Amino acid sequence: MSSSLTFDRVSRMFGQSEVLSDVSLTVPARSLVALLGASGSGKSTLLRIASGLDAPSSGSVLVDGQDASAVPAENRGIAVVFQKPLLFPHLTVVDNVAFPARMAGVTRREARSQALEFLDLVQLGGFARRMPGQLSGGQEQRVSLARALAAQPRILLLDEPFSSLDSRLTDDMYELVGKIRAELEPTIVLVTHDRREASVLADTIAVLDEGTILQHGPVPELHYQPATRAVNRILGGLNEVPGHAAGGFHTSVLGRVRVQPGVPDGPALLVVRQEALRLIRNDDGGTSSGDEAPTGVVTEVKSMGAHVLVRVRVESAPGSGSTAVESIAVELAGAPALRAGDRVGVSLAGGQGWVVRA
Ligand SMILES: Nc1ncnc2c1ncn2[C@@H]1O[C@H](COP(=O)(O)OP(=O)(O)O)[C@@H](O)[C@H]1O
Ligand SMILES: [Mg+2]
Repeated sequence: MSSSLTFDRVSRMFGQSEVLSDVSLTVPARSLVALLGASGSGKSTLLRIASGLDAPSSGSVLVDGQDASAVPAENRGIAVVFQKPLLFPHLTVVDNVAFPARMAGVTRREARSQALEFLDLVQLGGFARRMPGQLSGGQEQRVSLARALAAQPRILLLDEPFSSLDSRLTDDMYELVGKIRAELEPTIVLVTHDRREASVLADTIAVLDEGTILQHGPVPELHYQPATRAVNRILGGLNEVPGHAAGGFHTSVLGRVRVQPGVPDGPALLVVRQEALRLIRNDDGGTSSGDEAPTGVVTEVKSMGAHVLVRVRVESAPGSGSTAVESIAVELAGAPALRAGDRVGVSLAGGQGWVVRA
């Protein structure tokens, strides 16, 4: 019962301002695509257009390859969960969840019995007779999820549904999304500004920036092979090391690194994730055991709980003909074992680099 969803060159003007520009994106049936973007990038507008609550200025929305433009919102087989739960305050929890079936003409008894199954799915089977006002924020959001699922949608749209919950509750919600996917296999579009949420939940991430899709691909690709520096930043990448590409290699303070095929010769930024770098202690103050690993001085050590973010000031190797100096960020697991002033070698795991345009 799951459908694919396609945006085909969708644009949306509000007065003179173009809020969505030529958005093309396909969400395969049963997959979960995260739309990741800052506030105001056009995420909700795109979801509203998918659901039929709004219409594109040009372009179209297709469900299973069929143009849905003429299909009214209530007949698209699409359900939406918003950031705010929006439950009916005067109906019990079970009657809130039974509401879509009641609207579809199902008897009260049958609708309630179906609703109970969806409440069990979201682990709120024992809360059926409560009023929405007697629920916590997390429970309310579970009820709205159950109500959306009770409509038996072919596509489920989630518009920042977990962003007002605390972090322990969001982890529970992530587990619930996994369970819903395993049991019902809906097609899901998740809108979020949270890259961790997108990375944990999605099969693929589409990065939306000022109404344009910058890149759409599997989660690791977005992290390790960003198309542009903007995508790297949106995914939380901290290192864009300036240098020069020539003949398939990039040269910078981090040395000479092989990069992806097809890079034109010229200035280029080496994108290397802070998690993909290692530091080698270099207590004698000299260069590390004769190899060409670049060295630098620790300038900052910041604890981030279970991780440490270390900043290292790296200078071009003597004799390299360059006087460049860069601050490189390295994320390490565990407690801080380094201090500002320590001299370290910086090593790039794998030795394969990725560059974007400078
Ligand atoms: N009905 C509207 N009329 C005018 N401008 C709108 C309307 N809806 C959204 N916008 C504008 O479109 C842009 C994108 O909004 P939105 O899709 O809500 O972004 P997001 O969900 O990514 O935060 C914002 O600049 C917003 O002010
Ligand atoms: Mg929004």
